[in-house]
Amino acid sequence: MTFQEYRGIKAVSIARLSEHIGEEVLVQGWLYNKRGKGKLHFLQVRDGSGIVQVVASKNDLDEESFEACKDLTQESSLRVIGKPVADERAPSGVELQPTHIEIVSIAKDYPITKKEHGPGFLMEHRHLWLRSNKQMAVMRIRNELLKGVRDFFYERGFALMDSPIFTPNACEGTSTLFATKYFEDMAYLTQSGQLYAEASAMALGKVYCLGPTFRAEKSKTRRHLTEFWMVEPEAAFYDLDDVMQLAEDFLIYLAERCLERSRADLLILERDVAALEMAASGPYPRISYDEAADLILESGDETFKRGDDFGAPHETFLSERFDKPVMVHTWPAEIKAFYMKRDPDKPNYVKGVDVIARGAGEIIGGAQREDDLELLEQRIRDHDLPMEAFSWYLDLRRYGSVPHGGFGLGIERALSWISGVSHVRETIPFPRMLDRLHP
Ligand code: 4AD
Ligand code: MG
Repeated sequence: MTFQEYRGIKAVSIARLSEHIGEEVLVQGWLYNKRGKGKLHFLQVRDGSGIVQVVASKNDLDEESFEACKDLTQESSLRVIGKPVADERAPSGVELQPTHIEIVSIAKDYPITKKEHGPGFLMEHRHLWLRSNKQMAVMRIRNELLKGVRDFFYERGFALMDSPIFTPNACEGTSTLFATKYFEDMAYLTQSGQLYAEASAMALGKVYCLGPTFRAEKSKTRRHLTEFWMVEPEAAFYDLDDVMQLAEDFLIYLAERCLERSRADLLILERDVAALEMAASGPYPRISYDEAADLILESGDETFKRGDDFGAPHETFLSERFDKPVMVHTWPAEIKAFYMKRDPDKPNYVKGVDVIARGAGEIIGGAQREDDLELLEQRIRDHDLPMEAFSWYLDLRRYGSVPHGGFGLGIERALSWISGVSHVRETIPFPRMLDRLHP
């Protein structure tokens, strides 16, 4: 038994129909939409790879097949045997002329209809909303983006070394930890794989980790999830300039790749492709925190003081000053994590970098790490962190410490930038947010 063949005819995905013009193929999926009556029905059939129009005419079909067309409702599942014919007007470039149509299961009263639904309703039906044309397009780009992430690092000799999700201590500050019972002890869900990636880099040289990360952030913005995916490269013998160059090469690679392989999906989402093409070329502007602060202050913004971290409006302002993602480096130590290396030329500043992209805000946070044992111990004390929890991390500075650094790219924010989808809740299959754990 197989479902990949029916009546001796092989199943083909809608995305590949154009390779089978004139051959008889089997298409299996769901009814997206339907119009027509009398002797002619136009069925929009989707299978996840694309949507194809099936032109069902009473004259070409057996009676049962034609009756099936009449009964099909939105999101009913079906199997169609037919021949793809080239059609320039169709987004997939083909139309399907059926010889047999069969219902698999009739869907009754599908809740998401053509009428406008509010985001609350759609989020509550996320398990079904994923079947909508735009949502499918975002998820296909996500798939391409993640494959691009893995290929980029693989091709450059970075080894995949995943960090644990249960951790005994904080990486990015103690205020956003999710605690969970761990047998008789407590554990925290990881906020970032970085500290372990540093240990991995001291073993394999160039590494990256990629996985879910968690932040109990009480932010209700369009850029915050409580569970998000992050890719974190870390490399030995990297300084801040090396980290910035890697980040730039990486973002250009990802943008180019999605432009090349996901163009049809970007068009479904009405992404301004020309703007993305501009962002897919280097070099990216690099400005210091102080220069960025000057730009904000010169604009007359009174919500900002020098020394503050940037809020969403400041990021938006900065990203719109440039037509490419902007790298902001050399930050006040006070507003950055304990592990960032002090700038020897600028006391109280650290060698950190944030990359800010139009529409998505901060997509990358990275740094050169403090590699001096005593300075790092001092930073742990300054931040009131428990020294004993970091003793393993301090070993990395005790045994063959080297300059090193890396960054974290949030997958959902990066996808928001590439796809032009403004809310991160649409860039992950099942978003987890302050007020959402369902479905
Ligand atoms: O700037 P962050 O906090 O940096 C780190 O976690 C470092 N340890 C990374 C490293 O150097 N290895 O987070 C990195 C990125 C942000 O730039 C953003 O893209 C994403 O993670 N991010 C979030 N995405 C969605 N929802 C949230 N609540 C996020 N918090 C951070
Ligand atoms: Mg950050």
